[in-house]
Amino acid sequence: MSRASTGIRAAPSPARHPAEAAPAWVVPLSDIEVDRELEEAVLGVLRSGWWSMGPVVEQLERELAAFCGVAHALAVANGSAALHLALLAVGCGPGDEVVVPSLSFVAAANAIVHTGATPVFCDVVGPDDLTTSPDDVEAALGPATRAIVVMHYGGYPCAMDRILELARARGIAVVEDAAHAPGARWRGKACGAIGDVGCFSFFANKNLPTGEGGMVVTDDDALAERMRLLRSHGMTTLTWDRHRGHAHAYDVVEHGFNYRLDELRAAIGLVELGRLAAANNARARVSELYRAALDGTAGLRVPFVPSPQVVPAHHLAVVLLPEGRERDGFRAALAARGVQTSVHYPPIHRFSRYRALGAARPLPVTDAVAPRLVTLPLYPSLSVERASLVVDAVLAAL
Ligand SMILES: Cc1ncc(COP(=O)(O)O)c(C=O)c1O
Repeated sequence: MSRASTGIRAAPSPARHPAEAAPAWVVPLSDIEVDRELEEAVLGVLRSGWWSMGPVVEQLERELAAFCGVAHALAVANGSAALHLALLAVGCGPGDEVVVPSLSFVAAANAIVHTGATPVFCDVVGPDDLTTSPDDVEAALGPATRAIVVMHYGGYPCAMDRILELARARGIAVVEDAAHAPGARWRGKACGAIGDVGCFSFFANKNLPTGEGGMVVTDDDALAERMRLLRSHGMTTLTWDRHRGHAHAYDVVEHGFNYRLDELRAAIGLVELGRLAAANNARARVSELYRAALDGTAGLRVPFVPSPQVVPAHHLAVVLLPEGRERDGFRAALAARGVQTSVHYPPIHRFSRYRALGAARPLPVTDAVAPRLVTLPLYPSLSVERASLVVDAVLAAL
């Protein structure tokens, strides 16, 4: 995240914020536009005096449910909480296995462990498609498998027909880690709304940013009710219900958590949801520019061949370095020109805590491509001029 993504540039306070001491990238990895509409949305809630979960959260839930075409959307504190609730709701617990891609952020694997279940890592499709491999999911299934977590890598939808078929045949659940994919569509359906539960993250660098925040979406009434209870301590009413006089007491029927979202972040979320389609289109234009300039140039590949069946959310702009091109030196050359890069992801099965879990399955595609992946800057306000600076820096560094 860049220093601008803290919103400090647009804030009225004259005080220098510590984040302003961060390196000033010519092209940061991600950035956020802060304007009067956002500021007023937050100020409106601030001045209302009701800051914890209430009517603005409820409005965001209604609007996101409509956007995804699902019956239920429940706002939560972050995407990791969303995954934890989803896995608990579908019944994951001790003795269960959950298949999950290793080429992902660690949140889903950690959430699986927190339910008491064991993550079983699976591979991605190939160098041109970094989404969850249905073939390897199938190979990873066993008698103890309770659920499959798929991840729409970079905002590109997974092959959900095969995944759903595998799950339905065995009566196991599909949880979509849609942290990268708000607004992405697979055969006309919203990512997040295809499996049993979809999980979104509203982290500050995501397509729908609120700082911290997230959402679970589902069509299943029973799963929604379980997640609603677990989100707030297993209590049967909310403070907001009691404040409005809609309830006077509560019972506790689950060992739940405080995974609630607050009104201030929900106000940002409503503004960002209204901008999501335009923001994703702007991301698509940058992705296309990178693809046209870089794919096939000097051995470089730009994964994800465009397909008429999917509308990606273009969360990440990832390139695959030519075999043998050392990544740290490549990234340092870009940094020297002021271009910030990242790596999505160091595979989870290689982290110490996960190595300690025991023998991992072989993941040949993940192990081959992960050391060659570099993520380039991508955000809606990235201009053609700046994107061209990134392209120049990449070509010079190859
Ligand atoms: C693929 C993926 N899953 C889950 C998460 C967790 O979301 P959060 O940071 O909101 O907890 C993230 C966020 O970085 C992510 O990228």
